[in-house]
Amino acid sequence: MKKSNLIAGVMGNPISHSKSPVLFRYWLEKFKIQGQYVPLKIAYQDLEQVLSTLPKIGFLGLNVTIPHKEAVLEFAEIVTPRAKSIGAANTLTFLPNGGFKADNTDGFGFLANLKEHQQSWRAKKCIPLVLGAGGASRSVISSLLDEGVRLIYVTNRTLERARELKNFFGSQIEVVEWNNKAEILNDINLLINTTSLGMIDHKILDLSLDNIAESATVIDLVYNPIKTQLLKEAEKQGCKCIDGLGMLLYQAVPGFEQWFGVKPMVDNETRKMFLAK
Ligand code: ATR
Repeated sequence: MKKSNLIAGVMGNPISHSKSPVLFRYWLEKFKIQGQYVPLKIAYQDLEQVLSTLPKIGFLGLNVTIPHKEAVLEFAEIVTPRAKSIGAANTLTFLPNGGFKADNTDGFGFLANLKEHQQSWRAKKCIPLVLGAGGASRSVISSLLDEGVRLIYVTNRTLERARELKNFFGSQIEVVEWNNKAEILNDINLLINTTSLGMIDHKILDLSLDNIAESATVIDLVYNPIKTQLLKEAEKQGCKCIDGLGMLLYQAVPGFEQWFGVKPMVDNETRKMFLAK
């Protein structure tokens, strides 16, 4: 029997900036699914009650955005290993017998995007430098380690936060001082910017790529603008460049598939639609 009136949504505070509804509604229409995807502005003090009420009124799951990604974990029935190691969830699925499963698909999105753009990518040969030590950095590091990457250089303006990541993830993390990041470029073949530097209305990332190998890949998680200064510089060096939009789109795939029963595609059409909105 074809299910109808399937409901999911995205929860945050504020929420009006979220572009998840644009993406989910595009896929719903594309697959002719009778479903809805709604933005929900929820205050922290209402979280627990909202999470217990929504499944009763038909919600199948939720995406979670700032500032609730960490807080939802305390109410979850099940926390997936990757959500646990990242310490945050972005995809909640309500369980048939009550409660919900909290998952984090950011790392999945990162890897799916990387593999789409670099089919020859092999974890064992990858030597990455991750710029930044916030939530996005955690997702990237966790997914790279899960995949079998042996050593990850991490640098951050606030060194202490990079050290915390080493304490958390262990000896495969090598902390590099922020002022020394240009020198380490000689030794790596994947550079990932997880900071907000380069984003519209933010400072640019001031990093010369003179030392990077032409065969290296550069990924910027920033997607607004789509071609950041870092990617322009990487292009000049002849590096392979991957923008942040793919990760954003791919991280939505597992939620859509779980709630609406169809695995959506992340193709050029999806990218174009998203950029035009
Ligand atoms: P997210 O969860 O999206 O990763 P976050 O936790 O606020 O967000 O992390 C933002 C990252 O951008 C951090 O690594 C931050 O560095 P600090 O830990 O030193 O704050 C980095 N960042 C933001 N503004 C920066 C700036 N002007 N210079 C260098 N790094 C910056």
